[in-house]
Amino acid sequence: MKLELRAITKRFPGVIANDNVNLTLNTGEVLALIGENGAGKSTLMSVLYGMYKPDEGEILIDDVAQVFSSPADAIAAGIGMVHQHFMLVPVFTVAENVVLGVEPTGRFGKLHIDEARKMVREISVKYNLDLDPDAIIEDLPVGVQQRVEIVKVLLRDAKVVVFDEPTAVLTPNEIVEFFEIVNTLVKAGRGVVFITHKLKEALSVANRIAVLRRGKVVGEADPATASESEIAEMMVGRPVQLTVEKKSAHAGEVVLSVSDLTVIDADGRTHVEGVSFSVHAGEIVGVAGVQGNGQTELVEALTGLRKAAGGTITLDGKDLTHSNPRERHHMGMAHIPEDRQRQGLVGGLSVAENLVLTRYHDDQFSHGLVVNWDAANLVADSLITEYDIRTPSKETGAGTLSGGNQQKVIVARELSRDLRLTIAAQPTRGVDVGSIEYIHSRIVKERDAGTAVLIVSTELDEVMALSDRLLVMYRGKVVAELDPKKVSPMEVGLYMAGSRPDGVVQK
Ligand SMILES: Nc1ncnc2c1ncn2[C@@H]1O[C@H](COP(=O)(O)OP(=O)(O)OP(=O)(O)O)[C@@H](O)[C@H]1O
Ligand SMILES: [Mg+2]
Repeated sequence: MKLELRAITKRFPGVIANDNVNLTLNTGEVLALIGENGAGKSTLMSVLYGMYKPDEGEILIDDVAQVFSSPADAIAAGIGMVHQHFMLVPVFTVAENVVLGVEPTGRFGKLHIDEARKMVREISVKYNLDLDPDAIIEDLPVGVQQRVEIVKVLLRDAKVVVFDEPTAVLTPNEIVEFFEIVNTLVKAGRGVVFITHKLKEALSVANRIAVLRRGKVVGEADPATASESEIAEMMVGRPVQLTVEKKSAHAGEVVLSVSDLTVIDADGRTHVEGVSFSVHAGEIVGVAGVQGNGQTELVEALTGLRKAAGGTITLDGKDLTHSNPRERHHMGMAHIPEDRQRQGLVGGLSVAENLVLTRYHDDQFSHGLVVNWDAANLVADSLITEYDIRTPSKETGAGTLSGGNQQKVIVARELSRDLRLTIAAQPTRGVDVGSIEYIHSRIVKERDAGTAVLIVSTELDEVMALSDRLLVMYRGKVVAELDPKKVSPMEVGLYMAGSRPDGVVQK
């Protein structure tokens, strides 16, 4: 099957998200779609999937023009899409979710649960997905949940499967497994569109790379010959520094001190167990680890979003173990949260409002209860320029920005005041290479201005490049403290997996 997007244009208020885009895809190949945040990748794929109607242009399948008025039409034509935010019901089983995913009008009529279980098993064997139809979704790691979405797509017999940033939420191991699944799909004669910000991934898995910039296709790159820096320059339109530039740290006094910290959830599960460490002024401490080893709960406890069950947290010598998030904010703590849609941003508010959200109470912006919007708007304007936030205007609803631009709004807000401690969780998740360069340089600048910085990231490359000292978390404990200049990623990977380079398995 040959899929062709011909002269597609899609406008939103104030932006041309897709501007006369031409793109083809054949089954049996992987097309990587890359481009800056807001370049129009997700919009283009939503047009292909029948979620948006293009303002101009057409979609052709084997040279026949198609009209998709809803995803059901696209699905019927053989197009499937796995969204970045999965659409699964957490308390249902795999098979139950698969039943829900098939519309009663689909080619199977209404699917019976026993049939669904059988089909999950069959597809699972055929594509090597290793799925248990009776497992409950919320008990499954993200990578396995993603495979449930893949099964839903394959059940409807998709010839072309679109993945929107599938690897952003996966662990390194899950990414390897995901690529194996992609290869199996392609060998089985299907086509894959793969959106990613990780250029290494595009180079290693794609047969072709198409680059979008500001709504237009600016060219294609051949993965066999192109380099990361060439593609980065094509994407951004200027050379990009792909490595972090920083001098050695000049660590000063202790700013954050964590002693014997334990975090237990409502169900009595221990997520953080007896963790102690400190972060000094002027240094970046990184926390590496496979997702789900207590990093999320550690950050929540440090920022006041979750209660500590034991231990103490002090900032500049003051005990804040029992302070609320706002008190911590006023003591100079910044927090870039891992889940931008739930914790970082209010989608219904404007970009400007989000940029000053945590500062309504600061003197600069308030006279009693009244917000000084002139001052707030000035700050918003300068942050939009400084962080290159791609938005039609500062009044635009933050929820309509592209994923990476939402992240930039949060980073801009959190780093734009006087700070003692910055806690950044997955600070560049979903962010394009040009903006990663900027966010990393801002974090290093914070450090050099004397702020204590704690970076938690599942991207090993990122924590290794940024940190002056590296902690590794495994099963709720800090199992290693390393000098990132003196260890290899392999070595850190071993600690992350619960073993040690000398082969001793940790308890
Ligand atoms: N529903 C919407 N309403 C208004 N504007 C939108 C909407 N969806 C997208 N846009 C705008 O269209 C442009 C393209 O956004 P899109 O989400 O396609 O970018 P992207 O390439 O997927 O970026 P990212 O890498 O950050 O996910 C952006 O300027 C965005 O603000
Ligand atoms: Mg997107």
